[in-house]
Amino acid sequence: MKLIVGNWKMNQTLSQVKAFFEATAHASYKQTAWIAPQALHISTSLSLAGAKIKIGAQNCSEHDSGAFTGENSPASLKDAGASFVLVGHSERRQIFGEQNKTLSLKAAKALSHKLAVIFCIGETLAERESNQTLAVVKKQLREGLEGISSWDEGLLIVAYEPVWAIGTGKVATPAQAQEVHAALRAELKEMYGESGAKVRLLYGGSVKPDNVVELMSQRDIDGALVGGASLKANDFLALCQ
Ligand code: PGA
Repeated sequence: MKLIVGNWKMNQTLSQVKAFFEATAHASYKQTAWIAPQALHISTSLSLAGAKIKIGAQNCSEHDSGAFTGENSPASLKDAGASFVLVGHSERRQIFGEQNKTLSLKAAKALSHKLAVIFCIGETLAERESNQTLAVVKKQLREGLEGISSWDEGLLIVAYEPVWAIGTGKVATPAQAQEVHAALRAELKEMYGESGAKVRLLYGGSVKPDNVVELMSQRDIDGALVGGASLKANDFLALCQ
């Protein structure tokens, strides 16, 4: 089964959250479906989503607790019922200045609280055009996972999201995505042996119902991280079919 993860970003009011889960309540899913709403909607989402959809967070602190105004600790996210957390989404890197060093601490802390981590990496358009894509994503992977030596099976997931494809309507071709995923698979295997080779690799960046099948048919693409198209119940269900 493929893993389809909706990243709602800073969208969906409470009434929209309720409407989404009402519309999806009786659906059957052929693929595994996860959703990351705004953190304050995690509890509501959990109570409405039922057992079929796992709920997670879009970010977490690298600390356990303390004077970090505005942050959410992995322990509290876990308490609230989150199953997973996105770490290092390109918007966190670009808008909030998060760097690999901090992101590796976030990933390690989340894993230590048994949250699955979806570690996000990807190149900018300038980096792709200057043929640096593979070097950039491998560096993000190595530095971002530094200090992580093991994890409970299935808890570490990597999402390849080319920055130029996020929210732009420009999607990587299946061949472009597969090339990067194959390189990431090899890199993870080199880093962690067989457990590295088993890490699920998601593609993200303008995934829509009309391009998902071709992307998901690539050998090293194990699922999708979806922004815009995950906000509409019908599109999300179509992706999960
Ligand atoms: P998009 O966003 O599907 O709207 O391009 C993907 C993401 O940011 O994870």
